[in-house]
Amino acid sequence: MFSKEEKNTLTSRLAPIIDTEIEVPPDKSISHRAVLMASLSNGPCVIRNFLEGEDCKSTAQAMRQLGVHIESPEPGTLVVEGTAGRFTKPFGDIDCGNSGTTMRLMAGILAAQPFSSTLIGDPSLSKRPMKRVIDPLRLMGAEISAEGEKSCPPLRIEGSPSLKGVTYKLPVASAQVKSAVLLAGLFAEGETTVIETVKSRDHTERMLDYFLIKSRREEVWEHKDSPKNRRLSEISTSLNGGQIPESMDFTVPGDISSAAFWMVAAAAQPGSRLLVTDVGLNATRTGIIDVLIRMGARIREIIETSMNGEPAGNIDVKGTTLQGTEIHGSEIPNVIDEIPIISVAAALAKGTTVIRDAAELRVKETDRIAAVASNLRAMGVTVEEFPDGMKILGGTPLKGARLPSFGDHRIAMAFAIAGLFASGETVIEDTACVNTSYPGFAETLERIKKGVRIKHRTKMLSQFKTQPATL
Ligand code: S3P
Repeated sequence: MFSKEEKNTLTSRLAPIIDTEIEVPPDKSISHRAVLMASLSNGPCVIRNFLEGEDCKSTAQAMRQLGVHIESPEPGTLVVEGTAGRFTKPFGDIDCGNSGTTMRLMAGILAAQPFSSTLIGDPSLSKRPMKRVIDPLRLMGAEISAEGEKSCPPLRIEGSPSLKGVTYKLPVASAQVKSAVLLAGLFAEGETTVIETVKSRDHTERMLDYFLIKSRREEVWEHKDSPKNRRLSEISTSLNGGQIPESMDFTVPGDISSAAFWMVAAAAQPGSRLLVTDVGLNATRTGIIDVLIRMGARIREIIETSMNGEPAGNIDVKGTTLQGTEIHGSEIPNVIDEIPIISVAAALAKGTTVIRDAAELRVKETDRIAAVASNLRAMGVTVEEFPDGMKILGGTPLKGARLPSFGDHRIAMAFAIAGLFASGETVIEDTACVNTSYPGFAETLERIKKGVRIKHRTKMLSQFKTQPATL
């Protein structure tokens, strides 16, 4: 059903029933933040289960360019010598590769340094909008210039060691922008507050707590006394500048966004059974579970531990014939990275699925609405495109096709999974991009293809208990 027949392609064909236990790679969002926070801290930190994907390597390399000593004594482990927020002017441009998270979070840190720096990216990242992060950093006193109307990279940052704290209401739900402002706020004079009207992933806030930064979170509820109409209307996070994170060891849980591909492969196949172990179960990321349950899958999420302030555990999926659903509003940020694979689930489901309020997808690694619609159509699915989403008519048998990845890891993997349900062969082209978030994806699917029941030695989750620095 799946093999690496040509270099830089993925090939899949009709899959057998899945019956396996699986581990997924470390969480990408958390790996980025762990290396940043460890670098900002006041001493040595050991990061375990760090994602060795291209995006997170870009973040580690960026910190090295700022003079942080980072060693990798073995794959997946980083020893980071935190410099208490004191960095040296980088030699040359800082290359963020394909990684929007690296560029936006680094912009927050660099805006506050007493030197100038330039952030560059690959052709995809060079087209992504950076105005959203430049605006609040300028309000704090940073000087940043970028290219064109959408303020695309390169970002030329004239750092300022005298940033001022601000109160900033995010115009787009973006954990990257929120994190950039909070990181800049660590260096700023006075208090920095970021206000969200829709909750985005909260890994930065949790990590600030874990590294003993004092911050304050407040929630404003509308119709608080009516359980039916209660609605979270504002979430604010505030911190005072001048704080240095305490050096800590950190272990990264598995990535639910990577698990999502296998969850859909199992959920959409009656008789399939999948157990994903040691995966992050932060409620700002588990929307994929809610969506698949709404579509009829039987899923149990078992939170077993807190890994450095992040809930983690297992996900047990039983497959079925899925039904269409609606996804919109405040649920979108929680599933933003999963929409390509959810769209594949929608094509496999009976009935119609409507996705709205997801215009952000148009400014990801590629325009994910256009890419998903085009690839689904090539497989025989009827899709209506909206500026902010799609309507997918499910239930038509999928036809195998030769499909572009659009250089986007999540498009490549989503359509490799679609190929497991299609007649004939599906070839995804240009799949080196998968390494940005999921090294080993092809090998895992290769093993699943053989129908081998994989039973891992389930890790003792207790080993991930909060630990002080050991060095
Ligand atoms: C991320 C936040 C999301 C997500 C991206 C990773 C993060 O982007 O799509 O893959 O680690 O903060 P936005 O913050 O732009 O929504």
